Amino acid sequence: MIRTRIISTGSYVPESVITNHDLEKVVETSDEWIMERTGIRERRIADASQAASDLACEAAQKALKHAHLKPKDIDLVIVATCTPDMPFPSTACIVQDRLGIKHAAAFDINAACSGFVYGLHVANSLIKTGAHKRILLVGAEVLSRVTDWQDRTTCVLFGDGAGAVILEGTQEKRGIISTHIQSDGSLGDLIMLPGGGSRFSCSQESILKRLHFIKMKGNETFKVAVRTLAELAANTLEANRLDPSKLSLLIPHQANLRIIQATAKRLNLPDEKVFVNIEKYGNTSAASIPIALDEAVRAGRINDGDHILLEAFGGGLTWASALLRW
Ligand code: ACO
Repeated sequence: MIRTRIISTGSYVPESVITNHDLEKVVETSDEWIMERTGIRERRIADASQAASDLACEAAQKALKHAHLKPKDIDLVIVATCTPDMPFPSTACIVQDRLGIKHAAAFDINAACSGFVYGLHVANSLIKTGAHKRILLVGAEVLSRVTDWQDRTTCVLFGDGAGAVILEGTQEKRGIISTHIQSDGSLGDLIMLPGGGSRFSCSQESILKRLHFIKMKGNETFKVAVRTLAELAANTLEANRLDPSKLSLLIPHQANLRIIQATAKRLNLPDEKVFVNIEKYGNTSAASIPIALDEAVRAGRINDGDHILLEAFGGGLTWASALLRW
């Protein structure tokens, strides 16, 4: 049976850093509060000329280089983002053009912070059915453009970045073992960006009401995330009859260190089996897992045969997991 394998990874974060101490000068907050409640120390911010596709292209080029592949070798581009360059053309089409990926299809996926793992679910299905041979999947976000820098309850959380993977089929006993996606639209109002779509298009009123910025009921979201992610991780392993002790690395979405620790505790995982980089980047939404995956690969924390669990949670609400054998 054909399986889908991640054959290479790449990531990119903008150079500009905003620390918690910088934010202390913008809103009433403190480094101590942010570290204690979230685990975030600093985040990267795109410069004025950079949109999601620019970050995506940087990450994708690295993934292509690491795989020794040319743009012509890719037959589908998927970009997971909730901060696209514009409603259309899709960010994936912009990336396709910029990288010179001819004779391919391209589309975006929006599942907020779960977008990358949703993308793995889709890419896995398309490769297994034979519809596509080699897929470039990127998670890219410029959340700083939709962050309300007057709202201390959200502005301390988010950052910008991109991560990319290239996927292809394999006959080997490795690759994606299973993917699981779910959503609950009835909880959509917990995290939303209300403005800019067909409900509240850009107007003087939408601007005055600050509808073009992320709104989040943080504490309610936190409770749902802790419960859902711990269950999701346990259920994913159980569905594959894999004891948590056999897991080599958990790579969770980096939204809040306390949420990550709750999942690790549920699986009884020691710290060294949990990948955490939230301190450096904050929550980069769909980019967080592929950036972490790339960093884990470069740091030598993933070896052939390792079982890796990815899991994400975000606006929608959406959540998703993927179990891989590297
Ligand atoms: N600095 C100082 N104080 C603050 C700050 C801040 N930056 N932000 C909030 N506070 C205050 C609040 O006003 C509140 O004060 P009060 O008690 O006087 O009312 C107090 O701190 C506690 O606020 P809570 O919201 O209860 O704090 P909590 O411990 O829940 O932490 C946080 C907030 C970090 C947002 C947390 O709830 C969280 O991480 N939520 C989940 C985020 C998430 O996973 N999102 C999903 C992905 S996002 C996406 O899809 C785009």
